Amino acid sequence: MQILRTVVELREWSRAVRRGSDLNAQGCGIGLVPTMGALHAGHASLIRAAASCGQVAVSIFVNPTQFGPNEDFARYPRSFDADCALAQAAGATVIFAPSVKEIYPDSAATYVEVAGLSERLDGKSRPGHFRGVATVVSKLLIAAEPDRAFFGQKDAAQVSVLRRMVEDLRFATEIVVCPIVREQDGLAMSSRNAYLSSAERAQALALSRGVRRVEALVAQGERRAGVLIEAARTEFAAEPAVRIDYVELVDWATLLPVETATPGSLFAVAAFVGATRLIDNAILA
Ligand code: PAJ
Repeated sequence: MQILRTVVELREWSRAVRRGSDLNAQGCGIGLVPTMGALHAGHASLIRAAASCGQVAVSIFVNPTQFGPNEDFARYPRSFDADCALAQAAGATVIFAPSVKEIYPDSAATYVEVAGLSERLDGKSRPGHFRGVATVVSKLLIAAEPDRAFFGQKDAAQVSVLRRMVEDLRFATEIVVCPIVREQDGLAMSSRNAYLSSAERAQALALSRGVRRVEALVAQGERRAGVLIEAARTEFAAEPAVRIDYVELVDWATLLPVETATPGSLFAVAAFVGATRLIDNAILA
């Protein structure tokens, strides 16, 4: 497994795969898995899915532009050696781990903004977050020119923003969305779970309980957004340490609220447990 540090190296690797001049990669397509590192089984599931493309580039880059001024950029967990081992075991062919200067030279003045969608759900409470995500993912798609890029449903609003971006800018990459990987007790895996104390870890289960409650109500035939959201709020309220940021039922493509759940509606929640912001969701059946 190679470790690439510059955009030019990544582009040259991608072009060599395409030309068939990389003898290990003849006839292969390219899958890209963008990450911020601190890899866990959720990331591994994306890498394994991407392996079907033939060659897999995993990017590891803690992207400063998607963090707000009072957010956790400086203390975001970084574990490069363990990440490389996990990525390789899951089937990565190359790791792309650039410096901040490589991605954002001092002179950088170009950003990608997906209007409207970027101000909804997480974008509402994290202004500028999706602009940072769209910008860095654009740079990765332009450099790696992958056939497919793999993202987790865990970040469901991010998926909506990136699908819109790929369609609007006509990127020649297909977005593939992989299911949420959970801990045995239901907590959605996240690099930020490492911040939780053991008490907070237990309190955080309220999120997945709320999501499961909504799924169960929908399975029983309940469709009214107000009823579903209220049921989830009741579940969250049982843990007073959980501070809700948003609880919404939306159309997954537009992220606009819906009154009635239909197949494919997104039920999504964000909440603070202590100082840690966690998210969870379900795509309703
Ligand atoms: P990061 O949080 O590292 O996540 C990288 C990818 O892993 C994302 O597509 C995310 O949805 C997916 N992922 C995280 N937890 C998951 C889980 N429990 N199950 C399944 N997939 C999961 O998302 C980002 O980084 C960044 O915003 C990025 C897209 C890399 C741009 O900087």
